[in-house]
Amino acid sequence: MKRVAILISGGGSNMVALVNSMTGDHPARPVLVGSNDPAASGLARAADLGVPTFAVDHKRFGRDRAAFEAELVAHLDRAAPDLICLAGFMRILTPGFIARYRGRLLNIHPSLLPKYPGLHTHARAIEAGDREAGATVHEVSEGVDEGPILGQARVPILKGDTPDTLAARVLIAEHILYPAVLRRAASGQGGRLDLAPGDIPGLADQ
Ligand code: GRF
Repeated sequence: MKRVAILISGGGSNMVALVNSMTGDHPARPVLVGSNDPAASGLARAADLGVPTFAVDHKRFGRDRAAFEAELVAHLDRAAPDLICLAGFMRILTPGFIARYRGRLLNIHPSLLPKYPGLHTHARAIEAGDREAGATVHEVSEGVDEGPILGQARVPILKGDTPDTLAARVLIAEHILYPAVLRRAASGQGGRLDLAPGDIPGLADQ
């Protein structure tokens, strides 16, 4: 049984979807949920789901990323995770951290990478007049929002969409994509998963 740790910074809706997916014949189970923000509301949601949690307040470390990560690593390694899922985790990780967990570190980004790495992805897609947007699950490598793509889900951009209405639609797709990619990774399946709008329950009526 693979052991999965999840790192969040906020509400943790992707974390909830991942935790809820790891049941029955799923080859993985959640062992830990952590955050860089002790006030992250996702921590209480994880606890309600029976998953052990921790928080390391990055603000305690100022600019000393290495010291922050040393404490993060101590919590993670105690749980001996086979996979670590970044889910709405908003801290940039150092090459040292990434090297330590290379091949075991996944992230979800709310755009169709390589388009729109970084922030404000939905506003940028709308601004550019794109017809579709979506989310990407990728292995974390040194560069921000780079790394081998493990899965993508495409959603339509509709007339009159705002960044908020598009974000809400993409989030529906994220909650299907990330658990599906995690299950593939936990079962050692390679390749990448590509989901179209028709593959996402709940998008059909959008
Ligand atoms: C989502 O858009 C996700 O793609 C990004 O953070 C946002 C919030 O995620 N990484 P969550 O609700 O905290 O899982």
